[in-house]
Amino acid sequence: MDSQTMGQELKERRERAEEILKEYLPYIDGEQRTVLEAMVYSALVGGKRLRPVMMLESYRIFGGEGKEIGPFAAAIEMIHTYSLVHDDLPAMDNDEYRRGKLTTHAKYGEAMGILAGDGLLNFAFETAAKAFALSENAGLVGQAISILAHKAGIYGMLGGQVIDVESEGSPDMTLEKITRIHTLKTAALMEASLMIGAVLAGAKEYEVDLMEQAARNVGIAFQIQDDILDVTSTQEALGKPIGSDERNGKTTYVSLQGLDASAREVRRLSREACGLLRQLEKDTGFLEELFRILTVRNN
Ligand code: IPE
Ligand code: IPE
Ligand code: MG
Ligand code: MG
Ligand code: MG
Repeated sequence: MDSQTMGQELKERRERAEEILKEYLPYIDGEQRTVLEAMVYSALVGGKRLRPVMMLESYRIFGGEGKEIGPFAAAIEMIHTYSLVHDDLPAMDNDEYRRGKLTTHAKYGEAMGILAGDGLLNFAFETAAKAFALSENAGLVGQAISILAHKAGIYGMLGGQVIDVESEGSPDMTLEKITRIHTLKTAALMEASLMIGAVLAGAKEYEVDLMEQAARNVGIAFQIQDDILDVTSTQEALGKPIGSDERNGKTTYVSLQGLDASAREVRRLSREACGLLRQLEKDTGFLEELFRILTVRNN
């Protein structure tokens, strides 16, 4: 696929993911209107929609043709958005811009920032549960919900955020520890995305495992690239402040290894992920191209 075709393809897939998300976001009404407004604001203000795009593609690769993927695609983006809303809070990274706009707490106040994040997290599971009514196979939907909960929670994204925050200013950070943090805080939601698409489409266990491993590599690469951009990019390009990591005393792959070695590691991990996908002997071309593009992304 040439880069122009891929660009157009990715744009269309993002739009599709966003349509699905809009379909499942709550109505802004009633006494809770402020928090509902803050939830919808955070979710719709921008964002690359990578996780739902990955999930929908994984479902397609394994032959999925049903409607039950929709609630999960919306749910993963709600959980990702909640993770960003809380990540930006004063007690965490204390950032005021996200996706080119004011962060949720900067716009609605800290209490509403916390509550909107909580709201998105709960609503994500309420949404995912709607898949039961859209599927003939309740067992697979149950399995998908369990993956979502596990990868978002204390053994996944949330766990990574805990170690990340506790490691701030730590003098004894190692590459191994940084990789553990990246695996949890960033790769876990990508693992959930590729795994859930595969599970719902009825993929075999070893296929789901391969998707998990591929997503792990890509997720770690994605976070190293995020840390590179935190040093090399601009707020205009990123839509969020640069220099956030240094300001918060984070030791990153970049601060330990330098920019060149970090960029090499991003490419190595991405190639490894593509190699894992090819072991499936399925139509993984789009996903491989997406992984490649992410290594050269600038936002
Ligand atoms: C940002 O994720 C947080 C990280 C895991 C580095 P994205 O870069 O996917 O954020 P959006 O959704 O496009 O805003
Ligand atoms: C956080 O990593 C990843 C999450 C789980 C939210 P960062 O703190 O580096 O993400 P950004 O740079 O604020 O998007
Ligand atoms: Mg953070
Ligand atoms: Mg942050
Ligand atoms: Mg960052």
